Amino acid sequence: MTTLSEHPPSSALSLNPLHPLEPLTPEEVAAAVAIARSQKAIGDQFRFPCVVLHEPPKADVLSLQPGETLPREAFLILLDNATGQTYEAIVSLTTSKVTSWQHIPAVQPNIMADELSECEAAVKAHPKFVAALAKRGIADLDLVVVDPWAIGNFGFADEVGIRLSRAICYLRAVKGGNFYSRPIDGLVPVVDLNTMTVIRIEDMGVVPVPPDPGEYATRFVTQPRTDIKPLQITQPEGPSFTVEGHHIRWQNWDFRIGFTPREGLVLYTVGYEDQGTLRPILYRAALSEMVVPYGDPRPQHFRKNAFDLGEHGVGMLANSLKLGCDCLGEIYYFDAALTDSRGNVSITENAVCLHEEDYGILWKHTDWRLDEVEVRRSRRLVISFIATVDNYEYGFFWYFYQDGTIQYEVKLTGILLCGALADNPKYGTLVAPDLNALNHQHFFSMRLDFDLDGTANSVYEVNTEAEPMGPDNPYGNAFFAQSTLLPSEKAAQRLIDPFKARYWKVVNPSVQNRLGQPVGYKIIPGDNAVPYAHPDSPILKRAGFMTKHLWVTPYDASELYAAGAYPNQHPGGEGLPKWTERDRPIDNTDVVVWYTFGHHHIPRPEDWPVMPTAYSGFVLKPVGFFNASPAMDVPPSMKAQGCCHEGESSNNQ
Ligand code: CO
Repeated sequence: MTTLSEHPPSSALSLNPLHPLEPLTPEEVAAAVAIARSQKAIGDQFRFPCVVLHEPPKADVLSLQPGETLPREAFLILLDNATGQTYEAIVSLTTSKVTSWQHIPAVQPNIMADELSECEAAVKAHPKFVAALAKRGIADLDLVVVDPWAIGNFGFADEVGIRLSRAICYLRAVKGGNFYSRPIDGLVPVVDLNTMTVIRIEDMGVVPVPPDPGEYATRFVTQPRTDIKPLQITQPEGPSFTVEGHHIRWQNWDFRIGFTPREGLVLYTVGYEDQGTLRPILYRAALSEMVVPYGDPRPQHFRKNAFDLGEHGVGMLANSLKLGCDCLGEIYYFDAALTDSRGNVSITENAVCLHEEDYGILWKHTDWRLDEVEVRRSRRLVISFIATVDNYEYGFFWYFYQDGTIQYEVKLTGILLCGALADNPKYGTLVAPDLNALNHQHFFSMRLDFDLDGTANSVYEVNTEAEPMGPDNPYGNAFFAQSTLLPSEKAAQRLIDPFKARYWKVVNPSVQNRLGQPVGYKIIPGDNAVPYAHPDSPILKRAGFMTKHLWVTPYDASELYAAGAYPNQHPGGEGLPKWTERDRPIDNTDVVVWYTFGHHHIPRPEDWPVMPTAYSGFVLKPVGFFNASPAMDVPPSMKAQGCCHEGESSNNQ
């Protein structure tokens, strides 16, 4: 059956994007769905996990001349609930035709937001679930919350080929109360998401619901502190950035953004204008996957290891930032044009926040002999979005600095995942009476398509070595940096090593700075960890990317996601471990660098009831990319020399 959409392919569709990498407009999203519906047998039983820009070939974008346009295309993933089959489509918006239609066997697309609420309703309507609640003395279904999770893949034959969710259940203490504080431990409904039927209810016995309500909402806080005076950020002349479509310019930085339901924010064509020349640094940069393996082996907990991109989609779960106070100052917001699971356009207003922040001191020197001080304020450009994935919040932040530094930071907050304490809490921490916050880790894989002054780049590992004591080092003080070329994919699978002050350096061997050094950027690890899951564990097979902190691959447009395109319910082996088996050469070629960082989380009582933000990420710093500090032309903040006398206004603050 073919359903004609309310949005027929419109001849009035404006296909004149500012740039081929501009995300699809709401009209283009609607047109893509309508074209697919009109040309393929897409009935009401189809869902649309993904409708995004089909990015044009990189070579075409890089060779684009002013005034030229490229064919405009959309990429769609479709799930037929009636058959459980998945399809990928490419729709030409330029010709209003489906140009590619492919059946993708034996995969499960990500779980869509609509499925979460439909799944909860199905569970709460099931008599066996109601009976299981009654056994626990729970009668008021309005206080019960059913939180659907991806089921994973643990080799159970009866779970193959069925689109499944395994839900975690909670009980609010009062209407509108916190529920993550009160798990109904040991009660796990399993739902077929294609038919929205409960296929089983795992009942591991009655465990009392923890008593502490753990409320955090303003209405529950009776004694807020009273000694905070207003702190206002004002920019009377407006911000220093300019925005045209999704093209952003600030100081010497120049880049574009996109937004996908899976990855959220994507950076494109990041470059730095250096003495009149726009120098490319990154062609595309985005989070490619993240996974949160939990460390409790008990039957109700061992499956917990969410892939928040491939199983859920952090873009789809992005917050609308107008509702909160997420950014301070002069804010520019970008909306995200997504779809609901039925292919209707769904706009997340204010999904991406762009603003400037004062960041302390950029550089300073005092010549005490002259009694002269030179100091510059540092300012950074912040572009971010925040996703709520069930209990957890993730803020994904890019920072651009005036000295050429780029920083990526994940802000982790929200509510810990807990179980009720039925026995010894060896694999967690008691955070409230009878409430056990499970040990876990958060692993993030960043895909960084470097193009430093061109596409042909190389990657080096740099270790600092101590010179042995001897005739050339008689006092034992000498140390030096040892750079080693990583020539192929297998050689480039590396771990951090703080004992060697290890970092990795991407260079363009064909372009030198004024000192004859190849221009480069280094990847400086920050907060990181190794996984504690066993090498033979299902989760390590499914998220093999987390076994190495560095991976390097030669550019391939189809290699976007570190754990493969469809990790939901997948047995594993896909993505980086599989691609790099070929051990392709990566020297002086178009390289993609994948950096994994892990945030290790043994919970604390102070993480309860809502976790104060934890920070994790890494830094990209120019190393020989410039001839000297590129920040010397930043003017002083104050008009007058000397210090900040009262009454002086700042013109560059
Ligand atoms: Co955590």
